[in-house]
Amino acid sequence: MTKSLTLVKLGGSVITEKAKVLTANIVAIRRLANEIAESRVRKLMIVHGGGSFGHPLAQQYAIQEGFTDPSQLIGINKTHHAMLQLNKIVVEALIHHNIPAFPVVPASCMISKDGRINIFATDTLRILLEMDLVPVLFGDVVLDTEKGFTIISGDQIIAAVATRFSAARIIMAVDVDGLFTDDPKTNTSAELLRRLTPQELRTFIINRTGKIEDAKILDVTGGMLGKVAELLLAVEAGIPTLIINAKKDNNLRMVLTTNETSGTLIAK
Ligand code: IPE
Repeated sequence: MTKSLTLVKLGGSVITEKAKVLTANIVAIRRLANEIAESRVRKLMIVHGGGSFGHPLAQQYAIQEGFTDPSQLIGINKTHHAMLQLNKIVVEALIHHNIPAFPVVPASCMISKDGRINIFATDTLRILLEMDLVPVLFGDVVLDTEKGFTIISGDQIIAAVATRFSAARIIMAVDVDGLFTDDPKTNTSAELLRRLTPQELRTFIINRTGKIEDAKILDVTGGMLGKVAELLLAVEAGIPTLIINAKKDNNLRMVLTTNETSGTLIAK
């Protein structure tokens, strides 16, 4: 739709306290809302992750596996409800900083097929963007024609939005400095990759997991590899992706205003 569209994924690891169930990191959310506001970016869409609001419940009720037992039904409601609560906190912080944030509920505008977004009613998003409003979506429980229901991550959503709207850039705001040669949380000699082409990214993922689809499945553990695997089609379609550490002050503001990052840039 618009080449000037910026997409920001606010990782659940940044906006929630990962170790404390159903606990938002209010300080981080307010700081990031302020950084977005001060950057004065106009065409903007935000997708946020689940962190400690989404993942523990999704895991408890095995939502990702699809419908296997009626005892899961209350779990899809609990998970979705928790995500609505987190969305409310994020949207309130954005509105407080005069960003015209407008919640868009993924469960209400998409249906997946075997875990992949299949039907996606994007008219609401298009009109919101035309009016310079800022849609705020999130990883969610989504109905699935094969599995009954599943979890659709914010990463899959942002990639789907990016290609459908020909976004100008994707910014992944996470809790690590970028994409590393290995997991920096467990391997101190892991090196930060500053710049990759889509082809180099594809090779990188395949070398580590054998196939792209496997990397996406590994993402249930919250790994960076799964996140970039979700974005591969978008970067191959020519949409630059920047991975930044949004736990650190001003990184989001800097990338929004200068398009430069000390993290990872994946671009042609
Ligand atoms: C997960 O979304 C949503 C639910 C578990 C309901 P994401 O996978 O995008 O969340 P984070 O960013 O990794 O926490």
